[in-house]
Order: sequence, then structure tokens, then C-alpha cells
Amino acid sequence: MSEFDQFSDNYQALLNVSVSITGEAGEYFAAYKAKFVAAKVAPKPDCRILDYGCGVGLVSGQLKRFLPQARIDGYDVSQLSLDRIDPRLRAKGTFACNMRDLGGAYDAVVLANVLHHIEPHDRQRAISEAASLLGRGGKLVIFEHNPANPLTRRAVDRCPFDENAILLPPRETREYLVRSGLRRTLLNYIVFFPRALKWLRPLEGSLGWCPLGAQYAMVGSET
Ligand SMILES: C[S@@+](CC[C@H](N)C(=O)[O-])C[C@H]1O[C@@H](n2cnc3c(N)ncnc32)[C@H](O)[C@@H]1O
Repeated sequence: MSEFDQFSDNYQALLNVSVSITGEAGEYFAAYKAKFVAAKVAPKPDCRILDYGCGVGLVSGQLKRFLPQARIDGYDVSQLSLDRIDPRLRAKGTFACNMRDLGGAYDAVVLANVLHHIEPHDRQRAISEAASLLGRGGKLVIFEHNPANPLTRRAVDRCPFDENAILLPPRETREYLVRSGLRRTLLNYIVFFPRALKWLRPLEGSLGWCPLGAQYAMVGSET
């Protein structure tokens, strides 16, 4: 049994409670990440993307929404989470807990809030494995909670499925990418304003440098 099997029935509800402080539901954050991938990472509309640690498919679903022509596959160690993925999404890709069932040569591999659930000693192996699934010119994108943001830490502390989470700063994430051969890295802080300050959100695109974001995105590629 994998850790997230126990949360597969109510993952989305628990997520919604833990992020409610922002005035948004979990869907807002999944859509935010998918929009980021569509705008900054996907090389073309009909690209192939692997959602590594896809869980119940929240980010996968949003990737399909923003990149309808793309093929979205998913991988997760929790079979019960995979079982909860929308059948319409599953019908258009491969969602598996066995790597051998997946293709390879992906244009992008996305890890959305996965790495902090992997034991530190196992993180390099996971990132090297994810990098090995990239095709020529492919990009690896890691979305992580920003441990320097006190509101993020508070949300993590209160979230039942984050009980064993160990957050990691951008420099640690970058090291995994570089050691996997993805030497060109780009860091963007994301998610700055709660719903109450929604009118300021158009500024977020120019705040990628600012370490106050609730999360960050690290993109790695060979060149
Ligand atoms: C917080 S959930 C995030 C799910 C999804 N990416 C999202 O943003 O909604 C973390 C997921 O990582 C998965 N996970 C944990 N360790 C993993 C590993 N070594 N390989 C693949 N997935 C893993 C868990 O099973 C869980 O589904």
C-alpha cells in the first residue's frame, strides 16, 4: 500500500480545506500549473507530456484543458489514486503505476508537488528516472512549495496528507536537475496573491524573481 492510497477518496476535499486560506480551491492551483506549462514549457500544441506523481489527475485534467491536442500520460505509485482519475482523461492517455507501461521521449515531464513526498535519499533517483523519460529537447518541470513562505508552511502543517512532507528549497531542486544532466535551469516563483487581492494577479507574470511566492517552478533542460 502506498501512502496516498489512503487519501484517494477524499484527496480533493482535503486539498480544498488546506488551501482555503487563499480563498481558492485546489483546482485554481492545478490550473495555474497547467497554464504555466502551456505557456512556458510545451513546445507545440500536440506535444507529449508525462504527469509524474499525477495522483487523482487534477493537474493532468488541467493540462488537457489548456493543451487539448496534447497527449497526457500519468505515473503514480498509488494505484488507488490512479483509479480515481476521470475515465474520459484516462481514455486519452496511459495512467500507470508501472514505468514499463509508459512510452518515453516526452516533450515535458511535470512533477507537481511530488518531490516533497519522496524521502530525501530517494529524490535524486526519482528525478534521474523522470529525466530519462524525456525526448530530445524535452523539459522537466518541478513545482514545489516554497519553504520560505510562512503561509505555505502553515498550510502544509495543517494538511493531513502532508504529515510526512519534507519541503525543499529551490537550490536543492536545482542540484537534482543538474546531476541528472539537465544543466540549463530556470527558476520562477509563482502564486502570490490570494483571491481577496485578485486584481493584483496580472502582476504575477513579472514577479517570477521574487522569493515571496507560495510555490516555485524549476524548469530543467539539457540546452
Ligand atoms: C500531493 S500529491 C500531488 C498529486 C498531483 N501531482 C497534484 O498536483 O494534484 C503527491 C503525489 O505524489 C505521489 N508520489 C509520492 N512518491 C512518489 C514516487 N516515488 N513516484 C511517483 N509518485 C509518487 C503520491 O502517490 C501522490 O499521488
